[in-house]
Amino acid sequence: MMSTFATITTLFVLSNAQSWVPSGDLPVDFTVTFSAPEMVYDVCNRDFSQSARNITVATTGVPVTPGETAMNPTAMTIKGASSGDMFTILMVDPDTPYDYVSTDEKPLLHMLITNITNADASTGAVIDPYRGPMPPPCSGDHTYHYLLLRQTADLSLTADDLPRYTPECNFTRLANRCLFEVANFISSNQLTTVGYVTMVGATDGYVRYNYVNNRGMSEADSCRGLDGYDPCPTAPPGSSSEKVMVSLSTVMASAWCLMFSFIVN
Ligand SMILES: *[C@@H]1O[C@H](CO)[C@@H](O)[C@H](O)[C@H]1NC(C)=O
Ligand SMILES: *[C@@H]1O[C@H](CO)[C@@H](O)[C@H](O)[C@H]1NC(C)=O
Ligand SMILES: *[C@@H]1O[C@H](CO)[C@@H](O)[C@H](O)[C@H]1NC(C)=O
Repeated sequence: MMSTFATITTLFVLSNAQSWVPSGDLPVDFTVTFSAPEMVYDVCNRDFSQSARNITVATTGVPVTPGETAMNPTAMTIKGASSGDMFTILMVDPDTPYDYVSTDEKPLLHMLITNITNADASTGAVIDPYRGPMPPPCSGDHTYHYLLLRQTADLSLTADDLPRYTPECNFTRLANRCLFEVANFISSNQLTTVGYVTMVGATDGYVRYNYVNNRGMSEADSCRGLDGYDPCPTAPPGSSSEKVMVSLSTVMASAWCLMFSFIVN
């Protein structure tokens, strides 16, 4: 009885925190697929290997690694739509450890495609191209949400029409992507959510390799949490106390200062 109550309360609180997450059955069968290559990432004094596999992000919370989903999806399929429907697809991450990059209500935008016709995603206008997951070390699991939205008319917006958000979020590669107001975007463009899939991933060898080799983060920070390196901060991943802890550490420790400048999703 208590646990049922607790579960219901938890579900209520969770669904309240991300008001843009749809509930119940949705009318359109929407899938996102990836073709992961076989790879080995040599970083942090070890080899991280990744096997080749095809992944279909069709149900809630499909586990993936960032390395497997680094490249564009190989397909995004839309089945069961009415002919003549136009769609928008967006992908967001609410789980970055920085409040000026994402919150539950205003996640980080990873992809935005509008004006999809003939139930064929390749017909759409790519407003913001796909950016693969790059969850920083010690930030826990990130859930990447894909929403299929039915339009009532064509959308003429461009990337320049998207809001510029906070001054702190001024990294070129995140332009127009921080604190994306999903609920407001949906209502102001009169969109209806008709399909929804999610995938869940955490830091992997690919992410650590890229932070060290392509983003100039120190090995100590990029490898944090692995045997032989400093442990992660102790607050539960993704908790608000962790966010506070990360911001405090940022001010107090130069290691975290570095991390701060290599923004992250
Ligand atoms: C992934 O799917 C493609 C196309 O169906 C196929 O050619 C390929 O062998 C599959 N790869 C794996 C690792 O199963
Ligand atoms: C969306 O479609 C309309 C009508 O075809 C077009 O005028 C508009 O430019 C399109 N928007 C984009 C971003 O391609
Ligand atoms: C970006 O934001 C940082 C932190 O607020 C600031 O120090 C820097 O001057 C800003 N850069 C630009 C180009 O606005």
